[in-house]
Amino acid sequence: MTELSLRHIKKSYGHVEVLKGIDHQVPDGTFFTLLGPSGCGKTTLLRVIAGFVTPSVGSVHFGSEDVTGVPPHRREIGMVFQDYALFPDKSVFDNVAYGLRARRVPKEEIRRSVNEYLERVGLEGFGERLPTALSGGQRQRVALARALVVGPRVLLMDEPLSNLDAALRVQMRDVIRSLQLETKTTTIFVTHDQEEALAMSDTIAVMKDGRIDQCGAPDDVYRNPKTAYVSKFVGSANLLQAKPVERCNDGICRFEVEGSNFAGRIMSEANDGRYLVVARPENLGIRKAAAAPGECELSGVVISTQFQGYRTSYRVKLKSGSEVNVETFGEMDGSPLTRGDEVIVSFQDKCIFVPEASQ
Ligand SMILES: Nc1ncnc2c1ncn2[C@@H]1O[C@H](COP(=O)(O)OP(=O)(O)O)[C@@H](O)[C@H]1O
Ligand SMILES: [Mg+2]
Repeated sequence: MTELSLRHIKKSYGHVEVLKGIDHQVPDGTFFTLLGPSGCGKTTLLRVIAGFVTPSVGSVHFGSEDVTGVPPHRREIGMVFQDYALFPDKSVFDNVAYGLRARRVPKEEIRRSVNEYLERVGLEGFGERLPTALSGGQRQRVALARALVVGPRVLLMDEPLSNLDAALRVQMRDVIRSLQLETKTTTIFVTHDQEEALAMSDTIAVMKDGRIDQCGAPDDVYRNPKTAYVSKFVGSANLLQAKPVERCNDGICRFEVEGSNFAGRIMSEANDGRYLVVARPENLGIRKAAAAPGECELSGVVISTQFQGYRTSYRVKLKSGSEVNVETFGEMDGSPLTRGDEVIVSFQDKCIFVPEASQ
């Protein structure tokens, strides 16, 4: 039963501030993902939670306990790394048993627990093997069993799937998430892969340059990005400049986008009044141009199409020269669109507005 609390965490190396003030609470038993590009401070924050890095400012709390000064081996954490970090000369059984032996757990109980966890990760019968006789996916399962068998207060994982091939990565997402749900272990998962974050997490914190830019449930972060950065990093987004025209009372604002009238929600205020409209490719409509574009619509020309079975992607060059991606699913009404077709792209009522400048 461990809630993790990060309070005002800052970390500098020399003059460089790598973490710039992280405040966050991870509820007990939830799966929390730090998502961001390389160099944004994910590993540093994970190492602060583990105790390998001491924050310059701030504190880390496990439940009601302030663990900021507690060394890693006393924090009762489990860790899984990108490179597995198994003991190469120990058998699978001995790798998983390591933490229990260090805690002087009785032999019979060790045997029972190790076998239980090997079964849970789908490696029953592999106990006698050495790590070198396992595939990458199997090694990561051993690392996961080793981290969880001791019943850690918090499970920490740093890009654990990055070394695996694509199919295995998808399969391991399920293994990790299922085990986390079964054991109800508070988990902090680090990745730069937005799909992984969306598929596995209860909560995603999108990090940018030492800060959390936005935090929320996967569908919330995807549907309601508050910044252009988050809209581009989580999913793909079409972004066009939007001039505010009128603010209505119901939270809806009117804009002018490339000469057309648009309306939608402002996700966060722009200090300088400059906004971008954000639309996901799958939220845009597309049809052959028969008349002038209406409200929330823009005209353009199809410059490429890609048929991908269940969906078709179109790249459309708008009158202004900007380009947008549109995705449609299933069959289109009427004849299919091809290169050179004049079309109307419809933003419907799904468009949202974010500040143009990153703040
Ligand atoms: N021990 C260190 N000394 C100096 N700079 C460091 C150290 N560890 C990390 N950094 C710097 O901190 C920044 C964030 O690194 P890191 O936390 O590893 O990012 P991420 O895991 O998101 O890729 C990088 O610019 C990195 O060079
Ligand atoms: Mg890292």
